[in-house]
Amino acid sequence: MCGIVAYIGEQEAFPIVLKGLKRLEYRGYDSSGIAVNNNLNLNLLKKQGKVAELEKYAEEFDTSGTVGIGHTRWATHGAPNDVNAHPHLSGNGKFALVHNGIIENYAILKKELISRGHEFKSETDTEVLMHLIEEIIEKQNVSLLEGVRQALNEVHGAYAIVIISKENNQELIAARKSSPLVVGIGKDEFFVASDATPIVEYTKNVVYLEDGEIACISLDSGLKIKTISNVEKTPYIQELELQLEALEKGGYEHFMLKEIFEQPRSIMDCMRGRLNLKNSSVALGGIKDYEEKIVNAKRLIIVACGTSWHAGIVGEYLLEELARIPVEVEYASEFRYRNPIINEGDVVICISQSGETADTLAAISLAKERGATILGICNVVGSSISRLTDCGSYTHAGPEIGVASTKAFTAQVTVLTLLALMIGKKKGTIPSNRFNRILFELNSIPEKVEEVLKSDKQINFISDIYKDASNALYLGRGINFPVALEGALKLKEISYIHAEGYPAAEMKHGPIALIDEEMPIFVIATKDASYEKVVSNIQEVKARKGKVIAIVTKGDTEVKAIADHVIEIPHTDDVLVPLIATIPMQLLSYHIAVMRGCNVDQPRNLAKSVTVE
Ligand code: UD1
Ligand code: GLU
Ligand code: MG
Repeated sequence: MCGIVAYIGEQEAFPIVLKGLKRLEYRGYDSSGIAVNNNLNLNLLKKQGKVAELEKYAEEFDTSGTVGIGHTRWATHGAPNDVNAHPHLSGNGKFALVHNGIIENYAILKKELISRGHEFKSETDTEVLMHLIEEIIEKQNVSLLEGVRQALNEVHGAYAIVIISKENNQELIAARKSSPLVVGIGKDEFFVASDATPIVEYTKNVVYLEDGEIACISLDSGLKIKTISNVEKTPYIQELELQLEALEKGGYEHFMLKEIFEQPRSIMDCMRGRLNLKNSSVALGGIKDYEEKIVNAKRLIIVACGTSWHAGIVGEYLLEELARIPVEVEYASEFRYRNPIINEGDVVICISQSGETADTLAAISLAKERGATILGICNVVGSSISRLTDCGSYTHAGPEIGVASTKAFTAQVTVLTLLALMIGKKKGTIPSNRFNRILFELNSIPEKVEEVLKSDKQINFISDIYKDASNALYLGRGINFPVALEGALKLKEISYIHAEGYPAAEMKHGPIALIDEEMPIFVIATKDASYEKVVSNIQEVKARKGKVIAIVTKGDTEVKAIADHVIEIPHTDDVLVPLIATIPMQLLSYHIAVMRGCNVDQPRNLAKSVTVE
């Protein structure tokens, strides 16, 4: 999620690493740090805030040295502060490590290391990995490369790491699994970074590390690669062709598209360490202390704004269906000004991507005053809302740059699903075979999202047909009603086409008057409990010559026969459909907006983090 830059060669490392970090900062980070080896001494500089803060802070220090590593952090483990910022040192101060990703089993490793006398300074998972490497090197008297290799065999999760050593300023080690890492090869110098942006100005020759590979970069013997299972690999050197601008977006034309395509990964990151298929359980560590209160809640009140409010409505269906607790979903701005009734036993759930949404923050203060227990669902670790809530769950979707929310929405829905499953299991409101089935299906959602993304070309084709519409209607029933709302919001936000989301049956009570042969109507018509009813609603639209674009379950023939276009999605449990039905809606809005020449990443009048009321 974060940014890594490293340099080894004949030039001064610090300015190169610092400049590289600035290039990676477009993702929006919370703290940064650099370690440089200066005459067999590791100098470490870390600072909360933007890279500019680090730069200012570094002015007072000696930053010389020809090998260095740097990091801009996007916190997952522990608040964004100076101590948790990377690099992290080993206990003996001999090694420094930067890490991008999550070490899933860090808690158990940390416990074991503490029992063997290790002391930790930070709350990060990263420092645990550093100590594990150190312990292996010390105990077995092996090289840094071998220590890293063995340690990586013991950790689960996702990582890109770079390590330097105090006693050897001729070498650095890098490795990756599920997080990208690129090695740039210059003349007598090497660069390592999370993407090629910081490297491209120095060299066009790069090696993209593959999952499970470790690079040993030495000024004496060059670049050598082996796998964590100790198999030597021949580095495949590629020439960079991409332009800087494109690199920042990972080759995608816009952040929004990149973030849409990241969803298989972000949903998986959100479930990481929380969903356990083997012992068929769900664990939300961040609400453990309040579990009793939440499970026994008489009522849940979900408070949010915009897309998060839509996630909240999906949550209402999930929680009422699986946990059998009455749920109310409120706009934060309405809740706070309405003298809301909060009774004993009410739990308020606040949802916000940024964790800074002003109206939601105010709603929390009010609910707190009235004695409610407050649970937060935020994406940004250490944000105001996450600090103000009694407990909560981070969505761990990674930084979202596109103003129109996509991957944060599916991550919020994922957390709400886990929450409903957890409460339902505790309360006994879900039969155990249903629980197991949903768990199994949830685990395969990332794959199914991947499959939906393959329809991008077809969706692009459909978008072209409807790009000139001036109105659009989105219909869904049950748990897919909020998907219709979210679909309409996405289109409005970025294409400026007027769009409305409706429960499909409500169409008859008003919006049907708008339907003519010009009007596209997007319908979620998947094979679930309300399928037959939705088919009737589609017939009603067709009788008035509206154009129907339906999201259907793979293999559907009935809707296919009457709709103008169908987009197929894989079958899943009814309660999980929103997680995949949302994807084609996002892509439709994206393509239509691009075709209309709109600035999709920064739509007019909108802001990413709404910190005003
Ligand atoms: C925590 C780690 C996670 C690790 C897991 C394994 C952090 C940030 N998370 O995750 O990376 O895999 O342990 O043991 O270190 N919180 C709020 N309000 C919010 C969101 C969160 O109060 O809106 C609090 C939670 O109560 C918790 C902390 O922040 O104390 C971390 O939340 P979360 O990451 O969701 O907890 P875990 O899933 O247990
Ligand atoms: N898990 C690490 C941390 O919280 C790295 C996060 C990142 O990728 O920036 O410090
Ligand atoms: Mg309700």
